[in-house]
Parts: sequence; structure tokens; C-alpha cells
Amino acid sequence: MRVVSGIQPTGGLHLGNLLGAILRWVRMQDEAECLFFLADMHALTIAVDPAELRANIREMAAALIASGIDPAKATLFRQSAVPAHAELAWILQGTARIGWLERMTQFKEKGGKHKERSSVGLFTYPVLQAADVLLYQATHVPVGEDQKQHLELARDIALKFNNDFDVELFALPEPFIGGGTAARVMSLRDGKAKMSKSDPSEMSRIHLTDSDEDIAQKIRKARTDPEPLPEDPALLDGRPEARNLVGIYAALTGESIEQVLARFAGQGFGTFKPALADAVIAMLSPLRRRLDELRADPAELERILESGAERARTLAAPTLANAYRAVGL
Ligand code: ADP
Ligand code: NA
Repeated sequence: MRVVSGIQPTGGLHLGNLLGAILRWVRMQDEAECLFFLADMHALTIAVDPAELRANIREMAAALIASGIDPAKATLFRQSAVPAHAELAWILQGTARIGWLERMTQFKEKGGKHKERSSVGLFTYPVLQAADVLLYQATHVPVGEDQKQHLELARDIALKFNNDFDVELFALPEPFIGGGTAARVMSLRDGKAKMSKSDPSEMSRIHLTDSDEDIAQKIRKARTDPEPLPEDPALLDGRPEARNLVGIYAALTGESIEQVLARFAGQGFGTFKPALADAVIAMLSPLRRRLDELRADPAELERILESGAERARTLAAPTLANAYRAVGL
């Protein structure tokens, strides 16, 4: 089993990114051979500020390591440090069909309506995504709901390439639904909106860099309802804020929703919120210390990423060579 997954280097990381994305990777590295990359080439599909992108790449790499990605267990690297991604993507552009890409709902939502303002990359980046995983013969790719269609496309491209050139080159990657409870962390101000860096309210999210005091205050002020917590999870229906806070607690402690409710049933948020704040602080406080150490030693961070890239380049080389050979180059 070989898992390949990328994350775009964005700044302002929050608890949603940690619970919904980063900690899933941390769990996976013990279950499978993992290659994790900072998708910095994908970041070019929308307008970038070069200095900001450079800073975000470092920040994301530091956050991943501080959160528990162990470079000794998983191969962690920058996508742009392995040129084979871009090379294979170009080869696969000869295989992918325009019609297939036009059916991608993400493109239709993000760029299809504004063709004069959208980059070509926004249209073709699913082909780069296909290259990202096919390059390493990934068997499993962790995908959220919004990325399922792109993984299907990667499989279609792999099948057509294998067929067209009569080779058994690319493995067909399967979607991988990794364990964990908090797939979607919601805003602390509105239980129906996703916790997001683009929310104008600072109080809506907890940043990985927030102080213990800020964390406690944001949770104290989080929107809730006056009802006590129920014992039956079904009774959280229609109480999105309560459900969200319980879900965050469960994700942090590794318990199920049932287990958390069994402990807090009948208690109000006056009791639950301080317990939740303690759990968030217990997770983020040591993480923040490691993050500070990593930031203070950019050379070490660079060394880790370069050694990951070295290994990724070695793993990618045979498949890229075979792809060139298959098409006659
Ligand atoms: P944001 O929504 O803050 O802009 P990104 O889109 O940069 O975050 O997401 C980076 C990663 O974090 C993605 O894998 C995404 O699925 C995950 N993620 C972002 N927000 C949340 C959230 N509120 N809950 C769970 N996962 C999230
Ligand atoms: Na986003």
C-alpha cells in the first residue's frame, strides 16, 4: 500500500486544517508507505505573491512536522523540487481529453464562468494531480468529497494511457477514506459555516499559533445554545454549534462522539467549554513550541525537505522514464 497526498501551502493555518487534513496524514504514516508533498506547483493556478508563497511553503512544512509528520516515516517534499511531476503532467496532457476536464465541477465552479480571468492551469491542474499520484504508482489516495472526481479522472487517464500505448505502466489508485472523526470543523461563530482562513472574523477560528489565553477566550465566546448536552448523538441534530464543539473535542482526544457525550451528558457549556479549551490547549501548546523551534532553524527545515525530494526523485525516475519510452521519446 502506497499513499500519495499533497496539500497546498496556505498561510494562517487553523484547527480545521489540523484536524481535517494534517492529523489524517499523521495517522496514515503509521499505516502505509506515505509520500506527502507541498503542492506548490498547484499554487500557481491562482494569482500568487511570490514572497508570500515562499513564506507559506515554509510555514506549511513546519506545521506538518510540528504536528507529527515524521520525515523518518514519511517522505515529505516540495512538489516543485521533483520536476518529474511537471514532466509527467505534460505527457499526460496528450492523453487527457478536453471534454473530460470540462466536466470537472471544481473548474466549472471556480473558473469556467470567468474564462478571460482564469489561468489555463486552473483548467488543467487535475492532469497535474493525476501525474502527482501516477508518478509514484500510488495505490491509495486520501480524498475529500470535492476531490473524488479528480481521482476518477486520474484513473481514466491511467487506463487510457495503458491502453493507447499497450503498456501496464500506471497502477490505478483507489480512494482512501482515512480514519478520524472531524472531517469538517465548523466556525466557532456559525455552526453552518466551515472554519476557514477566509472568514473575516478572527473569533471564528483557532490558529495553530494562538496563545493559550486566546484559545480559551475564543472557546469561551464560541456560539452555543442554552441546552445541556444530550446522551444520544441523534439529539445533536439541529444544534450545529453544539455538534461542532463535541466533534472537535472527540477529534482532539481520539474518542467517539458517543464517548464524549457519555461523559458530559446533562452538563451545560459552562462545564463543557473549559474542558474543550483544555483539550485544544493540550494539543496546540506543544505543537506551537515545536513550530517555533522549526521556524528558528530554516536550514534544518530545508534539509528535511531536500532529503525527502531526493527520495521522491529516485522513486519517480523509473515511471517517468517508462512513460517517455512508451510514447516514443
Ligand atoms: P481554508 O478553507 O481555510 O482556505 P484550505 O482550503 O487551505 O483551508 O484547506 C487546506 C486543507 O485543510 C484541505 O485539505 C482542507 O480540506 C482542510 N480544511 C480546511 N478547512 C477545514 C475545516 N474547516 N474542516 C476540516 N478540514 C478543513
Ligand atoms: Na479554501
